[in-house]
Amino acid sequence: MHAVAEAHGSWPTIPAPTFLTMRGKITLMKKTLLLFVQVICLAFVVAQPVAADWKSLGNMSATPPSGNAVAFSDGQNTVTLSVLAPDLIRVRVTNGKSNGPDYSYAVAKTDWPATKVEFAGDKGSRIIRTSEIEVRVQLSPFRLAFYDREGRLISRDAANLGVARDGDRVRSWKSMPADEHYFGLGEKSDTLDKRGHTYVMWNTDAYGWGANTDPLYQDIPFFIGLRQGKAYGIFFDNTYRSSFDMGVESPDMYSFGAEGGELNYYFFYGPDPKKVLGRYTELVGRSPLPARWAIGYHQCRYSYYPESTVRFIADNFRQRHIPCDALFLDIHYMDGYRVFTWDKTRFPDPARLLSDLSQSGFHVVTIVDPGIKVDPNYSAYQEGVAGDYFVKKPDGKIYVGKVWPGESAFPDFSSDKVRAWWGTLYKGLLSDGVSGIWNDMNEPSVFEVPSKTMDLDEVFSDNGLNSPHAKIHNVYGMLMSEGTRDGLLKLRPNERPLVITRDTYAGGQRYAAVWTGDNSSTWEHLAISLPEIMNMGLSGIALAGADIGGFAIGATPELYTRWLEVGAFYPYCRTHTAYGNPNQEPWSYGNKIEEINRRSIELRYRLLPYLYNAYHDAAQTGLPVMRALLLDYPDDPAAVGQDSEFLFGDDLLVAPVLLSNHTQREVYLPRGVWYDFWTDRRYSGPTNITVDAPLERIPLFVRGGAIVPTQQLVQYTSEAPINPLTFEIYPDGSSSREYYEDDGLSFEYQRGVSLDERVSATESGGQFNITISSPTGTYKPSARSLMFKVHSQRNSPHNVEIGGKRVNALRAVADLDQAVEGWAYDEINNTVWIKTPDQGMAMTAQIEK
Ligand code: GLC
Repeated sequence: MHAVAEAHGSWPTIPAPTFLTMRGKITLMKKTLLLFVQVICLAFVVAQPVAADWKSLGNMSATPPSGNAVAFSDGQNTVTLSVLAPDLIRVRVTNGKSNGPDYSYAVAKTDWPATKVEFAGDKGSRIIRTSEIEVRVQLSPFRLAFYDREGRLISRDAANLGVARDGDRVRSWKSMPADEHYFGLGEKSDTLDKRGHTYVMWNTDAYGWGANTDPLYQDIPFFIGLRQGKAYGIFFDNTYRSSFDMGVESPDMYSFGAEGGELNYYFFYGPDPKKVLGRYTELVGRSPLPARWAIGYHQCRYSYYPESTVRFIADNFRQRHIPCDALFLDIHYMDGYRVFTWDKTRFPDPARLLSDLSQSGFHVVTIVDPGIKVDPNYSAYQEGVAGDYFVKKPDGKIYVGKVWPGESAFPDFSSDKVRAWWGTLYKGLLSDGVSGIWNDMNEPSVFEVPSKTMDLDEVFSDNGLNSPHAKIHNVYGMLMSEGTRDGLLKLRPNERPLVITRDTYAGGQRYAAVWTGDNSSTWEHLAISLPEIMNMGLSGIALAGADIGGFAIGATPELYTRWLEVGAFYPYCRTHTAYGNPNQEPWSYGNKIEEINRRSIELRYRLLPYLYNAYHDAAQTGLPVMRALLLDYPDDPAAVGQDSEFLFGDDLLVAPVLLSNHTQREVYLPRGVWYDFWTDRRYSGPTNITVDAPLERIPLFVRGGAIVPTQQLVQYTSEAPINPLTFEIYPDGSSSREYYEDDGLSFEYQRGVSLDERVSATESGGQFNITISSPTGTYKPSARSLMFKVHSQRNSPHNVEIGGKRVNALRAVADLDQAVEGWAYDEINNTVWIKTPDQGMAMTAQIEK
């Protein structure tokens, strides 16, 4: 086999890889391709297709490349491979001779810059080569294989099936090496590693769900494959009911497919899993930077009413000094569950209530479900009928289904026009002072048994395509949250809105935060929340949380306490409980527990600058806030499968207690130096340790070399500006981090009104140096102090200088409170504290030991 341009239209000869001579190149290519074809042909003869109805793509012929794309056809199917970036290939299989209209609800980026692609081929194969990967296409039967540029196989179609159809169903089978593992797939209630499981993607109101219940509310058809430390990703962009079989049907293959639509997927190559996630979130969009109040502590129950109860809850937070930023109003605030209305008996003057709450630092978030009560005297219903905004039955009548308000009509969010209308409906709530919107029941959930939703043939306009519910179902919740966010942005253009949704699809992070629906107050649910939220993070969703304490049942004091300890490290942090359950506020379990719960929330508030920076990273890079260890340690098998610990941002490792009556736990610390957050004891990983974890203490570790920005305690995020801004330094050689800040509320940061600086710490010989670079951006915080807290210093320094000038030594750390500048040594905790005014410019501090 050799590469001949003439025989194959405009397919040119493949250029030599730079690391080989011309002769070596041809020989290597010949051998590799030959081996590839032999293996596939042999397997094709030996193996039987596992499902008899599937018709696999057979012989395809290639057309000449066009731009960065190339199409293959057998007269009935068209396969188009498009190179979007050197590590990103789109594979689109359509029914027919040419592609139909191309549309994605998920994809946010379509304008990829030109990238260099080499095409080559011969009689039986084609090669598409970028600077990072090589796609080898076998024409007969049609199979794809992805290689890295060193010629190592990344992933390939299963030999005996490849891509197949069965009526409207489409499916792709891939070979599954014995040591490959899978992560992502959004909100699933089982292990972190998806190998050996099957999953269905069909947004479902899954009240009462438990371990392994599938499907749940949200569906994100994206996963990361990880083998021997190297990662790739596949995003199957198909909104129909789909499924992933990660090695159940056959131990050598995994597969993904759907009940309709196109076999349309994107293949990403790392090998770093962070790069895969970065590219995936570049394609489908990232979680925008939230307002600071949105990442504080939130309190919810089904439901706080009437007004006096809401005031009572708010007063308790402030009187008991338990920080809190938001209170939630569940369905009982409405008039007969009519969305966008108030029950005027329970809430006679909502504007006044919300204004009073705002005075004491509370934001209020109201629930808004999609079902609009069928009531000719109700304006939202009237407008929906007049504007033709509701989902239809196949006979053209408005679809009516039962939800909380009784018979209801459902806005057709697949229409741009309807989403725009929906956005306007928030005007009243916002003018009453509501800050955020909670979109629930948007699977869409309907009280139908057993489907829990509309029939599959209900009709959605889909902007003129008139698509069936079967196609729109999985994006209904995401489109609803899009309409909500856009509406809030129109009504309050310079405020970052909080929208929280129960349902979403790939890319939904652009519009809303999510929570994991109606979990239960059990230890098992507490444990499940970790791999569940980690996998959501690995699927692009950064702002996610589970109902702290559990929604169904109601937590015991011990469970609530442990749950809040880890919940304080959820990216999104909210307590919620179901109707009729006992009180589930941080103070509901007596003084001793209240004290522990207060401290759990306080820790989150002290870490706010660090958390806010993690969100800034998520918005920039797509990296989640709650991170599976595999993101940092893909080559460490002990880290890769960790279900019960996670990284919170870059530098904190959280290993919560997930069992009743346990006051110790085993923790795996990956390679490198780790500090126990509570004791400063240093460990050298990789190591397994057992640590004490009495009820009041969550095992928490800080990476050696970390510089953790923290702040003074506040009772709500906007209570006072950050002062002092403290950098907690955990020495390990040289280290540095970016520090980001802005006003925490508006979009001014998009116009450069932000602060970005680099903080570095270096230990060498007898000196410890801290530097801050000159900040970029025009955000100017109000006058404040900077504090440096250098951990693990055995002796009091001889001298401390800032900008070359000696700084006063104070007798005790407490004396720093009153001092403008000074340093002190805490000999109990072996910490050096330095305080100095924040001049807003580059600075150096030097500690002589
Ligand atoms: C659903 C939601 C839950 C909410 C309840 C009432 O069950 O998942 O969070 O409290 O509806 O609105």
